[in-house]
Amino acid sequence: MDELIREREEAIEKVFGADAYKCVISNPISGTEYRKIEMNRMNGLWYLEKYTEKQVFHEKKDDREAKSFLCEVFGDSFKNMNIWTEEYEHTLRLSKKGKLMTGKQRVQKQQAPKVKVGHNREKNYILPQGTKIEPLIDMGVFTKEGKVVNSMYDKYRQINRFIEIVDDEVKNLPDKKLTIIDFGCGKSYLTFILYYYFTEIKKAEVEMIGLDLKADVIEKCNQTAKKYGYDGLHFEVGDIGKYQNSGDIDVVISLHACDTATDYALFNAISWKAKMIFSVPCCQHEINNQIKSETFSLLTRYGIVKERFSALLTDSIRCNLLEVCGYRTQMVEFVAFEHTPKNIMIRAVRKGKGSSDKMTEVQSVINEFHLEPTLYRLLDEGGYLSK
Ligand SMILES: C[S@@+](CC[C@H](N)C(=O)[O-])C[C@H]1O[C@@H](n2cnc3c(N)ncnc32)[C@H](O)[C@@H]1O
Repeated sequence: MDELIREREEAIEKVFGADAYKCVISNPISGTEYRKIEMNRMNGLWYLEKYTEKQVFHEKKDDREAKSFLCEVFGDSFKNMNIWTEEYEHTLRLSKKGKLMTGKQRVQKQQAPKVKVGHNREKNYILPQGTKIEPLIDMGVFTKEGKVVNSMYDKYRQINRFIEIVDDEVKNLPDKKLTIIDFGCGKSYLTFILYYYFTEIKKAEVEMIGLDLKADVIEKCNQTAKKYGYDGLHFEVGDIGKYQNSGDIDVVISLHACDTATDYALFNAISWKAKMIFSVPCCQHEINNQIKSETFSLLTRYGIVKERFSALLTDSIRCNLLEVCGYRTQMVEFVAFEHTPKNIMIRAVRKGKGSSDKMTEVQSVINEFHLEPTLYRLLDEGGYLSK
């Protein structure tokens, strides 16, 4: 056995040198928590993305830690490993009987996989720098040359990632005019970029609505849409909770709609049977003000733990309720925590059939922590929950 482990470690040692920049670990051994791990080297550090069925977890390692991590998981948790260097893609594979097989093939420069790079170099975004989206120049996100304004870089990164996640799903939408609503659109950077993405990149016909409470901001957004001939995009002043739409809504979006505004956005989407929902919640205060538990008082004793646990619990309950209402739902860490702590996206795709066992889970957590979450109340009052 030691001999086998030594052989694997030597194989990794041989190919995982200073010029390695990407690694994909796959083919998990049964019982492994992750189904795949992707590692990209940027600015001297390895950035790991660990994929479970529903989530992605992020981690950083230096070269030495990364190498010992590979040695640890290869054979123990995974059976395949692909490592890219400047010249080669190396393959390390274990047969059913644990026999090591290695191979390599020369990388054609134009076939090299996308490299995820750090702050100072450009990543292969769907909307790379230089893309001229004129309203965004007016709004001060891009310069006239299409460069991202330094202070707007984090926002640009968030929006690009948002669009990447949307892009992964929208290929499953029917080939017809799409109706999209952005709840709590604010200054509408995301709304304008999404409109550009759908109409210019996907060449789709869309009607897009942005809704926000702020009349002055909405007026400005409507002027900008008109100025640039974005005919399928308009903005309305209104409260998400009171918003009425009789139409056939395909996609509901919300980015950082505060506290329970997200619940109203999700409730509207569910009641319209929207096909897809992309929602990044923030300021989840509601549960933090309600939570108490006799059994799990250690989760509510320390302010910071209580706050973070409440925020995560809020979103877990929301996701479970979406499942109850017939949505396949995931929580995705959509940008790294250092860019924004409000970094979890709820992505939900309508499947039709609800999951009643998820209802039992929600009910028990609500009882345990004495909660009255808004989305639960709205769905209950609307008759969407069968208990
Ligand atoms: C943090 S900002 C996010 C703006 C934009 N989505 C973005 O990410 O840049 C939250 C926005 O949600 C709006 N908002 C909060 N509650 C709302 C409600 N009940 N109805 C409509 N808009 C709401 C606020 O006015 C604000 O513009």
